[in-house]
Amino acid sequence: MKKIFRAPILNPLDENSWRFYRDGALSVDDGVVADIGEFSSVIERAGSDPEVEVLDGVVVPGFVDVHVHWVQHRVRGIFAGELLTWLQEHIWPEEARYADSELAGAAATQFYTDLLRAGTVAGMSYSSPHAEATEVAFRCMRGDWVIGNVLMAVHAPRTLTDFSLHDPDTLRVFMGRIDQAHYALTPRFAPNLTAESLAALGRVAADAGCFIQTHLAESVAELQWVRELFPDAANYTEVYDRAGLLTPKTILGHCIEMCDEEWQCIRDRGSWVAHCPTSNEALGNRRMPLERLRAYGIPFALASDIGGGPSHSMLHVMQRFLVSHRDAGVAVTPQEALYRSTKAGAQCMGRASVGGDLSAGKRADFVLLPRKSAAESIEGWFEDCLRGPAADLEQRPQGTWLRGGHVA
Ligand code: GUN
Ligand code: ZN
Repeated sequence: MKKIFRAPILNPLDENSWRFYRDGALSVDDGVVADIGEFSSVIERAGSDPEVEVLDGVVVPGFVDVHVHWVQHRVRGIFAGELLTWLQEHIWPEEARYADSELAGAAATQFYTDLLRAGTVAGMSYSSPHAEATEVAFRCMRGDWVIGNVLMAVHAPRTLTDFSLHDPDTLRVFMGRIDQAHYALTPRFAPNLTAESLAALGRVAADAGCFIQTHLAESVAELQWVRELFPDAANYTEVYDRAGLLTPKTILGHCIEMCDEEWQCIRDRGSWVAHCPTSNEALGNRRMPLERLRAYGIPFALASDIGGGPSHSMLHVMQRFLVSHRDAGVAVTPQEALYRSTKAGAQCMGRASVGGDLSAGKRADFVLLPRKSAAESIEGWFEDCLRGPAADLEQRPQGTWLRGGHVA
């Protein structure tokens, strides 16, 4: 059944540009965008008497969050502090609770509900080490997600390591139960694995051709710890590279404390960076050097990293992306903020042909943002949509649609 949504539409094109349709229309057929343009043209092309729904707001594509810990959603924004003590004192005890599948089910339902309310329709998430909690996250999934159970063998409480599936045979069996389009092999970070187990995971990933997600060079203390644990490696990135874990389907969270050789390595391997500006601020880490990443032409997308990030709102992530880099004198635009939260995210998770923007042939996953603004330009209007505290931004979307159906 064809249906036309009539509203102003802002559709990202690339990091520098977007297309704005002032009296726009999105024609949706069977959950997929059939046509997009000015209303007068779309209606003419649509043929006989299609159903038209007028929306009071501005339509943008649904947001994509490429690095979020769904098992930290209940404690987002509650704790902060230096990364390693924050993990040990607050985050790992919370993740250990996900051994309880009932708790996991309730938390997963809340997670997807909250994300849709905030306009996020897709992304990549880290689960706890538990197989059952990870399967719960797949069963409750709303939108399009890539999910991985964190693999943690060492340097963590047994309440987590005892459940970790890092043994290659065990992991292969588990992966066999999951649609590989939705799975990411997820070594938590180098300190939680040995060089041998990382290499074994690299082989599993190569055989499966699956996504890989992990953390890299997020804090100075973490970097120091990695130097002590892996004294043979020239740098942190090399620890992953030696294990064969850097591929075009690898997404590396943070990438702050990096030297030129490491940027070069990531570029050569074609891996992606998940840039998490709100988390970096909340945990007191340094600014991700966007100018270096740009100089090397490394692909990246934005992410909330809850619970390091205090909010799951991608509007909040975009706000901090713009503010934090501008404060450092690095030019960033609203066009790039939107692109990195939609189309780039979809590319990162291998969904370039089916999502991330509202061109014909893609899923009709979209968000309605409030039209009201004193701004005269569309850039000014979009920046107005990003203003305010995180709690307001979580509620700012007026509605979210998945495959043309209203879900939040
Ligand atoms: N490094 C290892 N685990 C984590 C995590 O859960 N959150 C963040 N921000 N960094 C990590
Ligand atoms: Zn993270």
